[in-house]
Amino acid sequence: MRMNIAVLGHGTVGSGVAEVFFKNRAALEKKAGQELDLKYILDLRDFPDLPYADRFVKDFNIIADDDSVKVVAEVIGGLEPAYTFTKTCLERGKSVVTSNKELVAQRGAELLALAREHHVNYFFEASVGGGIPIIRPLHMCLAANRIEEIAGILNGTTNFILTKMIRENMSFGDALALAQKLGYAERNPEADVEGHDACRKICILAALSFGEHVYPKDVHTEGITKITPEDVAYAADNDCVIKLIGRAKREEAGGKITAMVTPALIYKESQLGTVDDVFNGILVRGDATGDVVFYGKGAGKLPTASAVVGDMIDCAKAADTSPSLRWAPSNGGNVEEQGKNRTAMYLRCRSFSETLVQEAGRLFGELHLLRRNNQPANELAFITPVLMEYDIDAAIEKLEGMGVEFLGKIRVLDY
Ligand code: HSE
Repeated sequence: MRMNIAVLGHGTVGSGVAEVFFKNRAALEKKAGQELDLKYILDLRDFPDLPYADRFVKDFNIIADDDSVKVVAEVIGGLEPAYTFTKTCLERGKSVVTSNKELVAQRGAELLALAREHHVNYFFEASVGGGIPIIRPLHMCLAANRIEEIAGILNGTTNFILTKMIRENMSFGDALALAQKLGYAERNPEADVEGHDACRKICILAALSFGEHVYPKDVHTEGITKITPEDVAYAADNDCVIKLIGRAKREEAGGKITAMVTPALIYKESQLGTVDDVFNGILVRGDATGDVVFYGKGAGKLPTASAVVGDMIDCAKAADTSPSLRWAPSNGGNVEEQGKNRTAMYLRCRSFSETLVQEAGRLFGELHLLRRNNQPANELAFITPVLMEYDIDAAIEKLEGMGVEFLGKIRVLDY
């Protein structure tokens, strides 16, 4: 018996999938319990020098019309044509595996239901955490738990950039260029540095954990472009590093979900504080397990391909749709307003008022003052107590009214 596979897209991930497939084919066939062939690779470009050049096709219908193709890896990325291709494959009884977090975050509930209707699978282990197993652990190994919270460093590119800036004094632009060269960044790296990629990933994890679709548009998202070396220095004075953290939490069943993606000061020695370079770290807080942390390469050709090929093997073994990989559709609006989030906040400001510390203390409560080398006399940096974000913003506005200029505002988290 032989099962045919097709790969849609021969970019960074697609070429990795083909490489892993042909390199490990014999072992994969053993694990799948049947012969496997990568029959087609869809790409508009030609790759005449590859040993598997004869597999390339330019017309998606060749794959869609071939009933011998049972598993399709969609590694094109983006919403279209990925959505239409995925839908067509599922409707024709082909399982689809993907690394496409944008599509899963936008239309996951619908595509999972469509897969179920046609008794096939829609798997997306590669969509979050690159090579780190996190989707399957969440809906299978941790199934006994009520998931209370998930927090993670979910974007390899931004973690790589922040690490290079902090450790090697590299400029933001040089670090980004290197991340692109290494195949970590999205086609449009704005999705990385503005936090949208991490936002899509936390939406997928939240949907899986809390059982209903969470839309990226509802999740407050900030990137890393405003982080300065001064902020990094003040963070160090509090034994902290700055990381881009995606997190989602639900206090009570049926209640709103708190979810956001923002840079954050976290303790250097904490579980996520030591996650550097392109590595991702994902902390899952279950009511039975307590904290479980997943760590590994969150981006790059082969780690991501590893997750895609693993999903292919699972499709080959599956008799029907996985019953636990599902969540309910939603119309959105299930995420709590950002202003109601409670957090401690790092603030950096400039003022010529000698009474600033007293005024800030009166508005925020007890301040934890921070120091850095070459700190100008008119610059103040401090961490507020845990407050509601509405109240923090109202206090900032009052101080701005008194002529204080705010230069930095970063949440302080404890993971
Ligand atoms: N651009 C993404 C990242 C790729 O850097 O994490 C993996 O999803």
